[in-house]
Amino acid sequence: MAFENIIVEQKDRLQYITINRESKLNALNQATLKELHVAITDAFTNSQVGGLIITGSGQKAFVAGADISEFALLDVEGGTLLAREGQTNVFDLIENGPKPVIAAVNGFALGGGLELAMACHIRIVSDNAKMGLPEVTLGLIPGYGGTQRLTRLVGKGKALEMIMTADMITAAQAYEFGLVNYVVSQEELLPKAEELLNKMLLRAPLALASAIKAVNAAAAPGVNGFGVEIAEFGKCFATEDLKEGVSAFLEKRKPDFKGK
Ligand code: COA
Repeated sequence: MAFENIIVEQKDRLQYITINRESKLNALNQATLKELHVAITDAFTNSQVGGLIITGSGQKAFVAGADISEFALLDVEGGTLLAREGQTNVFDLIENGPKPVIAAVNGFALGGGLELAMACHIRIVSDNAKMGLPEVTLGLIPGYGGTQRLTRLVGKGKALEMIMTADMITAAQAYEFGLVNYVVSQEELLPKAEELLNKMLLRAPLALASAIKAVNAAAAPGVNGFGVEIAEFGKCFATEDLKEGVSAFLEKRKPDFKGK
């Protein structure tokens, strides 16, 4: 599939997905969401890709939200479908994916933009970034998982404050709230994301997938996260990577993981 709204670039085992609608502050229209679904699904199944960095084009915005121009004609059914398909095909896909995904937030991350960043496993933001869920200013609420993921990340009180005031917060506030992992300058943003992802790519890939599953289970309603951890821990013993990791430790050498 030829992409018109995103750019996909491979750098060794690391893949960049850049949302590329700079003139619209990288707002997520439905075409962009479809492309993200295809690119992310491909990345998760492509053995040449170890992990992803998602960022936005330009210096101003990561993603300034869902594309508001597409809301005007929706009815209840259309709105429900938009949220359900978006959540399933992009946001949940990322969060539950088997490979690490880092959001490199290079500016405004509003509405669907913050929701996209929150679906990623790690968030690194530049010091000019502004974040918020301003949907109530439009007569809406977040629909791509924002009410759930923000609450999990910052707690109910702060989540309700951010959602009900619609206020934007600074990178420093986001760090203080535990919403983001690192705040760096714009120049340092991609190097920091690469440094972190490259470190993860030295680790056992199947163990990373198990770690994502087990940690996600901590916040999944009705799921016994401890049980998921036990099952994932046990599954590791079927992998060649575990044998390699243990042998490498005992032989005092670096492991060479194959993701098997
Ligand atoms: N959907 C559609 N278009 C958007 C958009 C969005 N979420 N966010 C920005 N754009 C477009 C603007 O309409 C404008 O397009 P135009 O040049 O064709 O008029 C362009 O991107 C630049 O945005 P502009 O508003 O002129 O930039 P600014 O620097 O004055 O303001 C923001 C930046 C982020 C504060 C402002 O764009 C904004 O509030 N965007 C909407 C944020 C939002 O509510 N997101 C949640 C959606 S659910």
